[in-house]
Amino acid sequence: MCGIVGYVGPQAAAPIVLQGLRQLEYRGYDSAGLAVIDADGEIAVRREKGKLSGLSNLIDAEPVQGSIGVGHTRWATHGPPSRRNAHPHASPDGDLVVVQNGIVENFLDLRTRLQAQGYHFDSDTDTEVIVHLIHHYYGNGCHGDLAASVRRALRDLKGPSAVVVLSKNWPDRLIAARLGNAGGVVVGRGEGEMYIASDIPAILRHTREITFLESRQMAVITADGAAYFDLDGRPVAKEPLLIDWNPTAAEKGEYRHFMQKEIFEQGRSLTDTLRGRLNFSTASVELDTLNLPPDAVNKLEKVTIVACGTSYYSALLGKYYIERLARIPVEVDYASEYRYRQPLVTDKQLVVAITQSGETVDTLAALEEARQGGAGTLAIVNAIGSQAARVCDGYLYMQAGPEIGVASTKAFTASVTDLLLLGLYLGQARGTVDEATRKELVHALSTLPGLAGELLDEAFHGRRYQALAEELHGYHNFLYLGRALHYPIAREGALKLKEISYIHAEGYPAGEMKHGPIALIDEQMPTVAIAPRDSIYDKMISQIEQVKARGGLVLAVATAGDEYIQQKADYVLEIPATHELLLPILAVIPLQVFAYEMALRRGADVDQPRNLAKSVTVE
Ligand code: M6R
Repeated sequence: MCGIVGYVGPQAAAPIVLQGLRQLEYRGYDSAGLAVIDADGEIAVRREKGKLSGLSNLIDAEPVQGSIGVGHTRWATHGPPSRRNAHPHASPDGDLVVVQNGIVENFLDLRTRLQAQGYHFDSDTDTEVIVHLIHHYYGNGCHGDLAASVRRALRDLKGPSAVVVLSKNWPDRLIAARLGNAGGVVVGRGEGEMYIASDIPAILRHTREITFLESRQMAVITADGAAYFDLDGRPVAKEPLLIDWNPTAAEKGEYRHFMQKEIFEQGRSLTDTLRGRLNFSTASVELDTLNLPPDAVNKLEKVTIVACGTSYYSALLGKYYIERLARIPVEVDYASEYRYRQPLVTDKQLVVAITQSGETVDTLAALEEARQGGAGTLAIVNAIGSQAARVCDGYLYMQAGPEIGVASTKAFTASVTDLLLLGLYLGQARGTVDEATRKELVHALSTLPGLAGELLDEAFHGRRYQALAEELHGYHNFLYLGRALHYPIAREGALKLKEISYIHAEGYPAGEMKHGPIALIDEQMPTVAIAPRDSIYDKMISQIEQVKARGGLVLAVATAGDEYIQQKADYVLEIPATHELLLPILAVIPLQVFAYEMALRRGADVDQPRNLAKSVTVE
């Protein structure tokens, strides 16, 4: 969940590291810190509690000079956010520092052992055991060999960790190592300079030639390049990948927040998601990275989709699409629950993971469980080259471009679109979708980006959403209702509201309301009803009636021009008409904009909501 950036080369390291950390702040913003080797050959460390701006101010007041350095932005696990718990953590003599992403599960045992050896601990963090272990082995058994000491120390750790080590005794190099699913470590090559980061956007300004570190691998990085080894010290050959993202895709540009930018670029991102995947002449979809030829599809008896958070709500739609189009039973599981229920896994099963970051540790663990059970695996993933894409038999990129805002928006619509494409692909391979339906869907999909663009244009330029948020931002509880395809949208809409505005919101299947939640309805509990014109429209109208009959306020998401709903609901947000299966992709957009405008009015930090981090690399 933390973010790491490192630099070695001819330039001043601190500004490069700080700029990289800015791109990674979505991963954690409890504290930040940086270390460089200065002109005297000493390690200069600056650390500050809170957001990166605090560290930046500190560095303005107390500058550091040096052309090799490492920085960190923290999402607190062990020990509260504070300057003393901020990374980098230093060895007792100050000769080396470590930054870490992950968790040392056996840190209590290791700390006790190190204390018995005379080590003093300045912080509450688990990271400090790592720096002391490396320091210990450096002088005991590893004969002053830094890489060997790092390897030896890592052997003592339980749990996932990604670390970067800087030592004044080895001033030309950074050592990065990765143990388990602790979040990514990418190494970027420049001209006579090298970069390390937890994620590509942090170094995209400088290089597009990226090498990914796998679990149990380490990189020894100097200005001239990187040498890779496994944790037994054996050399590993690695090929870099050329990333074709535009660096400005990871910048805010004219927008006030990343979330705002990411919401409003969904017309463009959906175009990218669909690009090259629709074949109009054969009325089919082409997904060449799935690694699932038709005979493999025909052997499938079950599909399981695992995901967390917003990606889980996307998975709920995936169940709907795949069952309807491909007639294969689909189960959907929270990735964080999957392996704890001893799931039945077979080799006639496809396990699909949905993950924007491709790093979520629960999702990676669920994939591993599936792989061990013999299932085929597929990742629907946004982050290019991320762990999920690498460990699965096949992958389908969301093609949404970098998503920086902690609240997921464009990755949601992209992943739902990918799932619809997957449903169609499986359906066409199994012969369960007739040509007319395929034609209809391929055509509807091709118009989707335009419809999303129109809807967003109006939301961006009109005052509708702002006025609505002005009226509603004082409420403390919201109920979101949807049915069938719009039930997952109710869940996702509620999650968006609660995570960025801190308003309590529940997403519920509308038909279940009468079995309990209806007791909550009064004038203090507005209901958001997702009720576009679809095959169960009438049922949603009755739910709206039930809320109104009990004095509740209703905000409806409805098809443009629906006069009937205009009379029934107190407020209406309109979406364009389209094919029923695509409606949820449009219906979520007003809820994203609504949540954004509500959060602004409550003075919340939209891009960095409290307690959250974008990539959840701890269990
Ligand atoms: O990167 P992933 O899609 O695996 O992340 C899953 C969740 O952590 C993520 O969707 C989270 O719920 C977001 N904050 C939602 O906006």
